[in-house]
Amino acid sequence: MGKISSLDTFFTGKTVVITGAGSGIGKGLAKTFAHFNCKLALCDIDEQALQTVVKELSVELPNYCEDNVFSSAFDVSDRAQWDDFLSNTAQQHQHIDVLINNAGIEGSCRPVWASDEQSLQRVMDVNFYGMVHGCKAVLPYLSQRPWAALLNVSSIFGLIAPPNTADYCASKFAIRGYTESLRAELSLIHPHIQVHLIHPGGINTNITRLEQSQKFKHRFLTTAPTDIAMYIAKCIMQNKARIVYGNKSGLAHFASRFFPLSWLNKISAREVKSLGLEEDYRDDHPGFTTRSNKK
Ligand SMILES: NC(=O)c1ccc[n+]([C@@H]2O[C@H](COP(=O)([O-])OP(=O)(O)OC[C@H]3O[C@@H](n4cnc5c(N)ncnc54)[C@H](O)[C@@H]3O)[C@@H](O)[C@H]2O)c1
Repeated sequence: MGKISSLDTFFTGKTVVITGAGSGIGKGLAKTFAHFNCKLALCDIDEQALQTVVKELSVELPNYCEDNVFSSAFDVSDRAQWDDFLSNTAQQHQHIDVLINNAGIEGSCRPVWASDEQSLQRVMDVNFYGMVHGCKAVLPYLSQRPWAALLNVSSIFGLIAPPNTADYCASKFAIRGYTESLRAELSLIHPHIQVHLIHPGGINTNITRLEQSQKFKHRFLTTAPTDIAMYIAKCIMQNKARIVYGNKSGLAHFASRFFPLSWLNKISAREVKSLGLEEDYRDDHPGFTTRSNKK
């Protein structure tokens, strides 16, 4: 309880912007920071889900002022909408102290030869470019503050890359590289802006919408979103740069640092086999037998 009250004091009155706040980790973060009496700016592409979260906040926290929440439904991959969102947030809440680039989608959950380009493009647009636009758009606001924090949500699949995740891993490794470099850059010019990289493990959310990812969901996505949200809040207060939390995250982090790639390949291939996704692993798959005629 002592820790919680110091978190309370730390965050009270700060404006926290959260993307993908209509579900899962983003929703957990919105509720956690509302508990700490923060002003919130919430975004999600799913307007109905976003409105439900806003309603839940007013029911669960009757003393939390309605004016403390600004929400807007938009697609984070659209840079122009980011500018409007942040400018409206600053107008309503006067300042922006924290941005959590959390919105994200799953990949095709199939191997490279069985995935299409459009799916890869969409994953990069939302997961990677959504985060890039958020960082670029928010810097003019964060740089004006005496203290600020910028958090980007990668994944344990930004540390290790098992089969059937090439598109998702491409986006999450890209977030990691971008964030680590940005962190080093900002430390030279605006060290008051904390930059955090988040690697969630298996969190029990709605991210797995495809049929082929349901077994994965039931087996691995077990940690409660509110647990990781509270951990993230503590890590912001402690200025912990890399935040690793959730089912299998410790193991993935350790393995990524100390196991040779050949071991990682063997372990992850075994895990994938147990999910019964072998259909795409036939050597007569069209991805191997159909050549492009384009010159
Ligand atoms: N759940 C996990 O196990 C896990 C593990 C590692 C990383 N992550 C990452 O955590 C983040 C949150 O995911 P989650 O698990 O809470 O999933 P979720 O699907 O429950 O929530 C994601 C939210 O983002 C929104 N969203 C999707 N595309 C958007 C867009 N273009 N613009 C705005 N909002 C958009 C969705 O509507 C949804 O409400 C994602 O970046 C995800 O990659 C999740």
